[in-house]
Amino acid sequence: MLRRLHPHQPESFAFTPANLAWAKGQISKYPEGRQASAIIPLLWRAQEQEGWLSRPAIEYVADMLGMAYIRALEVATFYFMFQLQPVGSVAHVQICGTTSCMICGAEELISVCKELIAKTPHTLSADGKFSWEEVECMGACANAPMAQIGKDYYEDLTAEKLRDLIGRFSKGEVPVPGPQNGRYASEPSGGLTSLKEFESGRKQYNASAQLAVDIRDTVKRIDGTEVPLLTPWLGKPAKATPAKGVQAEPKPGAGAVADATGMTVQEAKASSKGKPKQDGNAPNATPAATPEAKAPGQAGGIKPAALSAPKDGKADDLKLIVGIGPKLEALCNRLGFFHFDQIANWTEGEVAWVDENLEGFKGRVTRDKWVVQARVLANGGTVAEAEAAAKAQV
Ligand code: FES
Repeated sequence: MLRRLHPHQPESFAFTPANLAWAKGQISKYPEGRQASAIIPLLWRAQEQEGWLSRPAIEYVADMLGMAYIRALEVATFYFMFQLQPVGSVAHVQICGTTSCMICGAEELISVCKELIAKTPHTLSADGKFSWEEVECMGACANAPMAQIGKDYYEDLTAEKLRDLIGRFSKGEVPVPGPQNGRYASEPSGGLTSLKEFESGRKQYNASAQLAVDIRDTVKRIDGTEVPLLTPWLGKPAKATPAKGVQAEPKPGAGAVADATGMTVQEAKASSKGKPKQDGNAPNATPAATPEAKAPGQAGGIKPAALSAPKDGKADDLKLIVGIGPKLEALCNRLGFFHFDQIANWTEGEVAWVDENLEGFKGRVTRDKWVVQARVLANGGTVAEAEAAAKAQV
């Protein structure tokens, strides 16, 4: 399955204040230097906010975590939980079509989707409320066939049951997820044959279905009900202003590396604060406040030839070099480096100069082997080939 960014993208993305507080709470769950681990929950929240995952949303989350865009894009395009195009306003229905589900009737479920939603996957229904797709095994094989609708699993389905579910969703109801044939969880259809003592005292629904019912954090867009975003690890709903004593800010270590790109949250903040006009890919940024102007001749090495603007007005995407994130790319541009072939030709002395003048990122050229990567990319190689070449270099 090809997973590409949608050709039509919104201008921008930003978390709502509540989602931002929630996202910061998520980041706080991870140890120092591991903030990039929050990528999946943050992308998921961005998707919940907008309905699907746009390029600006992916870039926003990458910036928040101090990751290179390419790394965030890799995650977003790999997992089919992320929708890269607009989906139904009520729900996107994902039918599992892998072995167990296929044997147990997935094809009939797909027929229902074709009939009630749209003939082809990833197509909005006539009323815009639904879309569907076939996906691979979702790990609920004992309850085949099944579908994920919104974020919940509806299991032990038949064509009629799915038809009924879609009808109820369409009317504004939120049917209880979990098995739809009376089973509690994934016990034998005739009931438990052992461990029967666990039947007493159990809740009305199995754990995941019960949680969905309790917190109502499901396809909530259906009726516009405001459901508080939960931060269970903090024991309370997320708020735009963190409650006293609640650590809602990210807790990156001072200068600790956030991920393999080498960008830390502090570095990202430092790069964006106080230099708004020079941020981004401003090819004609004045060098007045750049490291070039700050320490001419002080650093070791030889300054490489720099450009005042990209050739033909189009800079290469330096972020394809593993180790260069958006802030580091902007810094390179401010130093007059826009193209792979510039970097590819740096001598040892020039590498030393750049390493010394990358404020906040000193030594990254050598550490991440930019030159060998740039040589591959300048010759039309892929990111994977560039990465492999860097790894192969002793
Ligand atoms: S085969 Fe459908 S959930 Fe595993």
